[in-house]
Amino acid sequence: MKKYLLLPILSIFTVCAFAESAISVSPVRWDEAEAKADALLAQMTDEEKAGQMIQAERRYMKISDITKYCLGSVLSGGGSAPGKNTVDDWRTMIEKMQAAAAKTRLAIPIIYGVDAVHGHNNLAGAVIFPHNSGLGASASTQGTFEAARETARAIRQTGVTWTFAPCLAVARDIRWGRTYESFSEDPQKAAAFGIVSMRGLHDGGAVSSIKHFAGDGGTAFGTSKKTPGFLDQGDTKLSEEEFFRLHLNQYKRAVEDGALNVMASYSSFNGVKMHENRRFLTEILKEEWGFRGFVVSDYAAVEQCSGKNYRDNVILCVNAGIDMLMEPIRWKQAYRSILYGLKKGLIAQERIDDAVRRILTVKYLSGLMDEPIPAFEEIDEAAVREKARKAAEGTFVLLKNEASLLPLKPNISVCILGPAADSVGVLCGGWTIEWLGKTVNPAVGGKTFREAVTQFLEAGGGAVTDHPDEADVILLALGEEPYAEFFGDAADLSLYGDKALKGNRAAVEAARKAGKPTVTVLVAGRPRIVSEEIKSWKAFVMAWLPGSEGADALVNALWGKVPFVGRLPFTWPVSSETSAETESRRSETVLFPYGFGL
Ligand code: BGC
Repeated sequence: MKKYLLLPILSIFTVCAFAESAISVSPVRWDEAEAKADALLAQMTDEEKAGQMIQAERRYMKISDITKYCLGSVLSGGGSAPGKNTVDDWRTMIEKMQAAAAKTRLAIPIIYGVDAVHGHNNLAGAVIFPHNSGLGASASTQGTFEAARETARAIRQTGVTWTFAPCLAVARDIRWGRTYESFSEDPQKAAAFGIVSMRGLHDGGAVSSIKHFAGDGGTAFGTSKKTPGFLDQGDTKLSEEEFFRLHLNQYKRAVEDGALNVMASYSSFNGVKMHENRRFLTEILKEEWGFRGFVVSDYAAVEQCSGKNYRDNVILCVNAGIDMLMEPIRWKQAYRSILYGLKKGLIAQERIDDAVRRILTVKYLSGLMDEPIPAFEEIDEAAVREKARKAAEGTFVLLKNEASLLPLKPNISVCILGPAADSVGVLCGGWTIEWLGKTVNPAVGGKTFREAVTQFLEAGGGAVTDHPDEADVILLALGEEPYAEFFGDAADLSLYGDKALKGNRAAVEAARKAGKPTVTVLVAGRPRIVSEEIKSWKAFVMAWLPGSEGADALVNALWGKVPFVGRLPFTWPVSSETSAETESRRSETVLFPYGFGL
């Protein structure tokens, strides 16, 4: 009996043991790393310490600044890439940066961070995995683990060792522009998938960042101060008990599981910005839960705090528990503010030492101190594309299938309508080459839905026709424009509303007029309102944002080469107005309940 119980545990360790670069987060390794960090810290000047606490953006700094200020970290924001954006360009840039760091008195390497949230999505030629809302629909966490591990390997190949992922957000209102970064509206599911994703990154040798701590997915509609925006970076108004249950517990579990880095959330909790909330960043996260890694602020978030001026805000954030300041542009000012705070006794020496100890500990633990640039490893791109396709195949949710129209037969004639059929960028969504994503040619390989269907039918004796009257079946591919963050906040979630693809209406109309059996595929980061339109569709598939290999994956599912296994990780509302009521849904406000899937 015992023998069988041990098997799953052993298999986890076997996976880890094979990956040479894997980051081990055992208590012993933390102890060793902290001891080394302490020894180094003892030799550091205050200026060197302040430098370690700074993260600048590559576009707003010179490489020599790394030497001059002993910078701790550099990042690429969404879409920020060196040169022609090749693997070599990235490696060369980071090699130069590490050489600049090696010239400092203590030669502490920088840690380079990117938003690799579904593959190494800033890099030209990257393989793009499904976004989290789709992964959360999967029956197992295998695709999530593979996506994370391959992402880690891909960033390491370019010299990068830190990604700002996974997002542990629990999106409670799908009008939020970051819903697709959330695995589920259910905190248990978000925790389970998020932790697997974090493990996959560590297993592949990358430092993860669980974000955004905490409550980013719980903000109240209308509390965002961003333009455009209704929800993003707003205020989460809840009792403390509810806040813990919905938005905090997944972090506690991730900390217990070896989290290395936490990113603070732009959002507020009951009117207080999380970046200045000492109770959560220090008392709960670090003291109560025993988090030993470091906390990084979000991109220029310091500016949003309640201090009198920028300097006050830096001091406020550091005192609240922020260890590293992601201050892309104003980083020199942030650096000076730390030193000012220290000199004037506004920040205690112990707080600075604690912050730097945490940063150095993660640098030791992740192997960065011994190997500032990961050794170059070949990646079998075809194998990774296959993994991305398999991950996507597990995400599709079949929501309607009248008279078992699906799976389709291979030798039929199909007319493809709809704006989501002709863009790989739409399949990938935001955070793909550009921060906001790209509809046209996003440089990530893969096929459009039309290309994949055409190839498949031509090989199987079927045909694609431009004329609906000649078709046996209409494939209607509808979708959302790519977007990110507050740009994706949408008050109107109808198929023709905010962020909907422009051609949706005409395509819906054309399919209705044709009167042929219609299979609709929705390519979107979240449910959209289909209450009326669905009546004239025979079959309906939620495809989420399946990534660069999503079209082939969809073809496999539609033609029955793989089964539909996905289940909704978000409740599907009947109208935009009812999209926030994830907890107390009445049956009349729900089109498909949480967990539904045929
Ligand atoms: C986002 C973070 C991201 C950071 C760095 C911010 O705007 O909120 O999720 O990691 O930018 O690109």
